Amino acid sequence: MKKSRIYLGTVLLAACLLAAGVMLYIWKGQKQQEDKTAIRIGILLYRGDDTFISTLRSALEEQAKEYEQETGVKVALDIMDAKSNQNTQNSQVERLLSLNCDALCVNIVDRSAASIIIDKAMAADVPVVFFNREPVEEDMNRWEKLYYVGADAKESAVLQGQILVDAYRKKPESLDANGDGTVSYVLLEGESSHQDSLIRTEWSIQTLKDGGVPLKKITGGIANWERSQASALMEQWLKEYRGQIELVICNNDDMALGAIDAIGREGIMGNSIKIVGIDGTPVGQEALKSGKLLGTVESDKDTYARVIFTIASRLAMGQEVNEDQILENGKYFWCPQAPLTQSSGENFRENAH
Ligand code: GAL
Repeated sequence: MKKSRIYLGTVLLAACLLAAGVMLYIWKGQKQQEDKTAIRIGILLYRGDDTFISTLRSALEEQAKEYEQETGVKVALDIMDAKSNQNTQNSQVERLLSLNCDALCVNIVDRSAASIIIDKAMAADVPVVFFNREPVEEDMNRWEKLYYVGADAKESAVLQGQILVDAYRKKPESLDANGDGTVSYVLLEGESSHQDSLIRTEWSIQTLKDGGVPLKKITGGIANWERSQASALMEQWLKEYRGQIELVICNNDDMALGAIDAIGREGIMGNSIKIVGIDGTPVGQEALKSGKLLGTVESDKDTYARVIFTIASRLAMGQEVNEDQILENGKYFWCPQAPLTQSSGENFRENAH
């Protein structure tokens, strides 16, 4: 009897000590969060000289500054450029984790290689916000601390197609320059491994077909989002299909600018070849204003960067992410987009929000 009382007493004491320990641990954790006056966020870019990505990078830096001013919390942003090399990016992830980053924002080089980064982040318990290059769903579902911010590729493409349908309906000869009853086009496509390329191509053409624009594809090629590659392809096509090309459909603005460069070099005058892009980068918008680009689709870069940064900074501070209900399935955010044409002027900004 006496023995069992001593035993019960010991168990109770141990339980009390354990409970007190747990409470102390939780309290200390909360206290640490409350006291946090600085956070460190790693930003990993697949290629720093990509025009759209560098625009996003500037917008992210802007967000960090605003956040510091509003909250008084210091933000250290470590920005790294993988220069299109996944191994380099994997080492950068390791380096940033060893620097005790509180969250990582990853623009992954090879979207099928996300599991390596996820493993490292999970082991260090550091959340990851992927952006612009979407990991496969299976990888995204591996952990609750994984997020994705991007622009919906089908939406971009439908909006791009709609710009052309509207132009054709208003004035068929604006696209069918030689008046033979069909619009003869060439296609400049982004990286074959990027989720956006195929979807943008497919839905842009589908929208044109659904909109009743008679089409004839002359040729197409992959220029990996790059101005110089697009320019080289276009130069070749202009020689090969002299006088036949009426429209250049581009998966992004930089390739559209490459096509414009080639047209300029060939000395083709009179705006007879129409060109459309996607992104609404500053250089793209310049080309639109000067009449060299017929239209583009702008993704709202400020919102894009604000959401990436908000998710990362909240996680870094140990706060809830989902409270403003902006995320689909608690993980995905789709950035708003709007068509831009010469006639849309400044109105697009109102439409975009
Ligand atoms: C696309 C964008 C391209 C390029 C690419 C990089 O969404 O339209 O211009 O930046 O992302 O992943």
